[in-house]
Amino acid sequence: MKTYKIAWLPGDGIGIEVLEASKIVLDKLNFAAEYIHGDIGWEFWCTEGDALPKRTIDLLGNVDAAMFGAITSKPVKEAEYELVSELRNKGLVYRSPIVRMRQTFDLYNCFRPTKAYKGNPLNLKDDIDIVVFRENTEDLYVGVEFSPVPKELSDTLQKLSKPFATFANLNGNDYAISCKINTINGCEKIIRTAFEFAKEHGRKKVTVIHKANVVRATDGLFLEIGKRVAADYPEIQFDEGNIDAMTMWLLKNPERYDVLVAPNLYGDIISDLCAQMVGGLGFACSGNIGKKLAVFEPTHGSAPKYAGQYKVNPIATILATKLMLDWLGEKEMALKVEKAVAQVVEEGKVRTYDMGGNASTLEMAQAIADCI
Ligand code: NAI
Ligand code: MG
Repeated sequence: MKTYKIAWLPGDGIGIEVLEASKIVLDKLNFAAEYIHGDIGWEFWCTEGDALPKRTIDLLGNVDAAMFGAITSKPVKEAEYELVSELRNKGLVYRSPIVRMRQTFDLYNCFRPTKAYKGNPLNLKDDIDIVVFRENTEDLYVGVEFSPVPKELSDTLQKLSKPFATFANLNGNDYAISCKINTINGCEKIIRTAFEFAKEHGRKKVTVIHKANVVRATDGLFLEIGKRVAADYPEIQFDEGNIDAMTMWLLKNPERYDVLVAPNLYGDIISDLCAQMVGGLGFACSGNIGKKLAVFEPTHGSAPKYAGQYKVNPIATILATKLMLDWLGEKEMALKVEKAVAQVVEEGKVRTYDMGGNASTLEMAQAIADCI
């Protein structure tokens, strides 16, 4: 059997604990892997001015897949910036290491299945089984931002855009610009991935999410490409909806939805909504998938208030290992993980605090491993 090379990136806070828990399950499966530690997160921003050091990027370029815990981001509160004022004075600018990882390796497909496991007291309804595909490298996350707005940009926009007249007379310090950039290639790749998934897994419907009636250029493009790609899959029902209306419909009738595909920001929002309907952050897993590399993670962050307590739910991370095994082609192992999770949730004997119990992170992982 092949020995996989897996980059192991615990990060900060509970990221370390949930990754440790997921290893209990991988070991029980006898998953043959060499786990190689990679540095990522807050500590490395503070000490090196880089939350994703080059050595970690090199490592990621040389593995079959990666498991990532969570990081603590640079705080937004100005007072807390003082912590790293020395670095700031050197002109080092913080950029999310997760977004950088996604962009560096073109992990364009953010794959977030949300399924209501039977017996989970946190389920909104019991028949939810929605798979979200979120475009992962473009849109409002490209990092093309201006604050303050330089005069040459303001002058150009004034020439090119009528609605910009509202801002043209403002001082550059009085507003900010974040660019939403979506390419034909980027839209097509994620939408096709969603339809291919639907075809392969016997799913009936793909819903394209947008706000094309207002954000006409970028979201209009996303919707147009959605319709074009859908024509190649006549056996799958094409559906579309505005992001705002979709939040209401999903909450009202989640069982009517199947596969969702969205540009980066809407996908981020809608996947959190879907996750909450099936148990919240303790259940939300995510794959950042490219052509050569894929990085799997729980969707949650480092939850500083619980760090070091080993009390958070490791199921999100254990389900992320399931996604990793699937992606590596280890379908049987992946199935075993999901079955074991489903069994422990249904039996209801071992529950972490979020599910109303008092099992620890590692006890929950052990209970799941014991079902394998
Ligand atoms: P968070 O996701 O870390 O935690 C928010 C709350 O969700 C927790 O206090 C807890 O009540 C609950 N929660 C999270 N994970 C849980 C689990 N496994 N089991 C049970 N309950 C769980 O979000 P927060 O507190 O807003 O952010 C903390 C730090 O994490 C920030 O620095 C933030 O920027 C960063 N962050 C990092 C992410 C990542 O690494 N992918 C994603 C989101 C936030
Ligand atoms: Mg999010």
